[in-house]
Order: sequence, then structure tokens, then C-alpha cells
Amino acid sequence: MCKYLQVFMIPTLKTKRLILRPLSRFDQDAMVDTIMSDMDVMYWLPYSDEVSTPEGQREIALGYITDFIKPWDEFGFGVWAVCIRDTELGTLGNFIGYCGFIPEQIEGAGPELVYAMGKSMWGKGLATEVSIACLDWIFIRLEIFCVHAVTDKENLSSRSVMEKIGMKHEKDVDLYDSVAKGEGLLQFYSIEREAYLRKGETEVGR
Ligand SMILES: CC(C)(COP(=O)(O)OP(=O)(O)OC[C@H]1O[C@@H](n2cnc3c(N)ncnc32)[C@H](O)[C@@H]1OP(=O)(O)O)[C@@H](O)C(=O)NCCC(=O)NCCS
Repeated sequence: MCKYLQVFMIPTLKTKRLILRPLSRFDQDAMVDTIMSDMDVMYWLPYSDEVSTPEGQREIALGYITDFIKPWDEFGFGVWAVCIRDTELGTLGNFIGYCGFIPEQIEGAGPELVYAMGKSMWGKGLATEVSIACLDWIFIRLEIFCVHAVTDKENLSSRSVMEKIGMKHEKDVDLYDSVAKGEGLLQFYSIEREAYLRKGETEVGR
């Protein structure tokens, strides 16, 4: 009963080309097909070294989904499934990735924006489109004053998305054991609510 109630409480967002709907455990296969089974996508994401087998991919997909759904209950934000709205991209409703927020890992940094898209969808401005929808949504929640994102220095595509949505590279951080894992420092980007709203980046794709 509670689980159904929870799904209904998570909003669905629409952009010009995409729908952001609640993620669920039923997305496990789509998550594997789109994200975990593609090393070009996983290369930049946590647990990339654990997806060498189909079983590992399924396990990691379920772990992602669980971690992405969990914050909705406690914090009122979380991560959405990104699906096709514009049929020029493919079949209506097809799962193509995820985007949304996980709780802050650095005190005072605000929620962390996270996203990944299936490779066939790269370079069409879709991550930018959904990230703006997510920022629009979260910044009308008055208690959220800033949002951050972290990425590898070499992840030029992700850094480009962060910059296009108005985030600024503030510092480099040792997060998610990145230094211990030999990945070095991660680039920390952030944006404050006031600056975002003042910049008029809202209402993209509505
Ligand atoms: C990062 C990711 C979500 C971007 O998705 P996307 O839908 O292709 O993003 P967009 O099309 O909105 O923007 C990508 C931008 O990066 C640019 N870009 C891509 N490759 C680039 C490169 N090698 N050098 C510089 N810019 C690059 C694109 O040109 C585009 O900018 P433009 O619109 O100004 O041309 C996608 O590549 C992905 O899923 N990567 C794997 C997972 C990942 O890295 N997630 C983020 C972890 S921090």
C-alpha cells in the first residue's frame, strides 16, 4: 500500500521532448539495457568495475534504482526515469536514462544533480533539457538554496551540461573515494537558487 502511495506522490515532469516519471523496480531491465550494459556509459558512473557480467549489471541496476527512489520519502526529492515524449526520438514512453537529485554528500552543498542517458541519445541536448526541468522543479522548493554536481575532469560532455545549465566549477573534491580509487579529484560544480532564477533559465522545453 505504502509503495503505491509513494509512487503517486512523486511528480511527473514534462519537457518539450521528454517525460520524467517515477522510477520503479520494474525499470531494472531497461536500466541494464540502457546504462549498465554499455561500458561507454558506465565508464563515468559508480560501480563501473562491477558490471562485467549480466548478473553484476542487474545487481548494480537494482542498487541504483533503490538509491534513487529512497530519498523521495525522506527528503522529498529523488531521481526520475527519463522517457521519450517526442516520437522523433523513438517510441513514446521508452526509458532512455535517469536524472534527478540524491542527498548531499558534502555538508551545505545541497542536493547533488545526477544524470545518465543511453548512448544512442547523446548529443541531442537531452541531458541539458532534463537537468533544467529538474532545477526548475527543485528551486521552487523554497528550502533548497543550492544544488551541486560532481564529475571527472575528463568527462567533457557532463561538464558541458553543467556549464550550459548555469553551474560554475567551484573546486576539486575527493568524493566517493575518488582519490583512493586512483580517479583523482572530482570537479565540483554548483549553482544557487537565487542566481539560477535570476538568470531566467527556467521554463525550457515546457
Ligand atoms: C553526460 C551525458 C548525460 C550528457 O548527455 P547528452 O544528452 O549527450 O548531453 P547534451 O546533449 O545535453 O550536452 C552535451 C554537450 O557536451 C558536448 N560534448 C560532447 N562530447 C564532448 C567533448 N568530447 N568535448 C567537449 N564537449 C563535448 C556536446 O557537444 C554538448 O554540448 P552542445 O549542446 O553545446 O553541443 C551523457 O554523455 C552520458 O550519459 N554520459 C555517461 C554518464 C555520465 O557521464 N553521467 C554523468 C556523470 S557526472
